Amino acid sequence: MRLRRKPNAQQMVQEHPRVVNNPQTYKGKWHSHLFKRDRPLYLELGTGKGQFLSQACLEQPSVNWIGVERIEEVLLQALQKADDTECENLRFLWMDVKLLSEVFAPGEVDRIYLHFSDPWPKTRHTKRRLTYSSFLQQYRKVLKENGEVLLKTDNEGLFDFSLEQLEQAGYRLIESTRDLYHSPYLSGNIATEYETKFTSRGMPIYYLKAQPL
Ligand SMILES: C[S@@+](CC[C@H](N)C(=O)[O-])C[C@H]1O[C@@H](n2cnc3c(N)ncnc32)[C@H](O)[C@@H]1O
Repeated sequence: MRLRRKPNAQQMVQEHPRVVNNPQTYKGKWHSHLFKRDRPLYLELGTGKGQFLSQACLEQPSVNWIGVERIEEVLLQALQKADDTECENLRFLWMDVKLLSEVFAPGEVDRIYLHFSDPWPKTRHTKRRLTYSSFLQQYRKVLKENGEVLLKTDNEGLFDFSLEQLEQAGYRLIESTRDLYHSPYLSGNIATEYETKFTSRGMPIYYLKAQPL
């Protein structure tokens, strides 16, 4: 993602009321101490500029939504979109996904969305892919029983890699298609920013839903 560095972006992110600083302090208490409502907790990991979440929080107000993004300039754009919605059920974490299990207690999360995650095509970067086995183990830890991982990508290589890793990590595939827009799974779909770009070029979107066994 190309972006212009903004000198005061870190401070703006830290001071924004939707950003949860020191998220470790809410581990096991996201419902009781932060959202103050016991609703399903859904995470989008690698949220980017926030198009998905700013729509999802409106369409599904009975969910507690959290976006995780590590680049502050990108997160700032997601925060601006979120503020346009006035959703009270949407927060953001400025952090790396690899810290997930330090921030959420076992069984605290209902659903994890991975949308157009960076494919990291070089073999030496395999471990950075958000569906690499070490990430899948963390997701398993924080997900509830019957919790779900949902993935969308334009990248066939990342999709095939994710299918392999999910199987090896003991996840059950519930839904899968290599062309979401010509599949029964499109109903209720909310497009992300990358998705809008790729579908406008006529590219197929790969999609799956999986559950840890
Ligand atoms: C290709 S963009 C996709 C953005 C958005 N999900 C969409 O579909 O439009 C991937 C985003 O994930 C973020 N990201 C990648 N690895 C991450 C990590 N380990 N922790 C947090 N964010 C990450 C990147 O900074 C980037 O903003």
